[in-house]
Amino acid sequence: MSFKPIRKAVLPAAGLGTRFLPATKASPKEMLPLVDKPLIQYVVEEAVACGITDIIIVTGRGKRAIEDHFDVSFELEALLQHKGKDKTLDAVREISEMANFAYIRQPEALGLGHAVGCARSLVGDEPFAVLLADDIIHNRTSALAQMMKVYDKFGTSVIGLQAVPEADVVNYGVITPQTVESGLHRVVDLVEKPKPADAPSNLSVIGRYILDPAIFEALDRIQAGAGGELQLTDAIRLMLQGRVVHGLELVGDRYDAGSKLGFLQATVALALESAELGDPFRAFLKDLKL
Ligand code: UTP
Repeated sequence: MSFKPIRKAVLPAAGLGTRFLPATKASPKEMLPLVDKPLIQYVVEEAVACGITDIIIVTGRGKRAIEDHFDVSFELEALLQHKGKDKTLDAVREISEMANFAYIRQPEALGLGHAVGCARSLVGDEPFAVLLADDIIHNRTSALAQMMKVYDKFGTSVIGLQAVPEADVVNYGVITPQTVESGLHRVVDLVEKPKPADAPSNLSVIGRYILDPAIFEALDRIQAGAGGELQLTDAIRLMLQGRVVHGLELVGDRYDAGSKLGFLQATVALALESAELGDPFRAFLKDLKL
């Protein structure tokens, strides 16, 4: 059986990035460069590689740089052409040609659930993906590609999971799992930021989702939850009343690039794998004799 194709991805990018201040005071967190690309470009590439054609970015105040990044830059392209820098020119051009980009404002950072709800009119009545730019999941088969396989089999919503140390569950949405097969669970219940003693498992929700459009009605019904924010996990919980939701443990090294330490770790991991920088960077690290 084939289900409706996932053509659209929502990228919430309207948060305030308070964990990365002062860097994020006037520049978007999503534009922090990881080696040589801004964080948000990684998730756009991940979505496009999965067949997504429409990228909907939820922005807010101070996020203009994101729109400029995915736009055509005539001046820059003309200059690169004039200087014969063909490779760089191709890299710059590809960015704006990757997908159809649409932007919608979240007037106030009321939470991830609210940000996704802002994209409702652009998504319409079809299943869609949500990718958070600050969750870097590094694997040859991308996180979304792993989840698409589950969607293709079941046609349900699928949320990305990671088993985290017990003490860390307080930072995540945590599921009550009914295991279908190794690494794949049916979500029975969901709680946002539980105390370790109250957590139903250590399977935590991370920044990749494939969602049924029924999520929008659920988002209309939720109240502010953990941290006073409108939480996406609370809406997914409501959606469980009428729909099946699967959770997939994602394979890959995950970095929370929205935190300073996670960002540094992701930078080192990706730089070591870079064709251009890997060898000299490795030599540099060896010289540090840590
Ligand atoms: P985070 O909680 O990681 O981002 O949200 P934040 O709120 O910007 O960061 P801190 O915690 O203050 O450091 C995950 C994603 O959801 C977006 C963020 O931009 C980020 O990409 N988001 C969050 C919104 O778009 N709107 C919101 O109201 C909250």
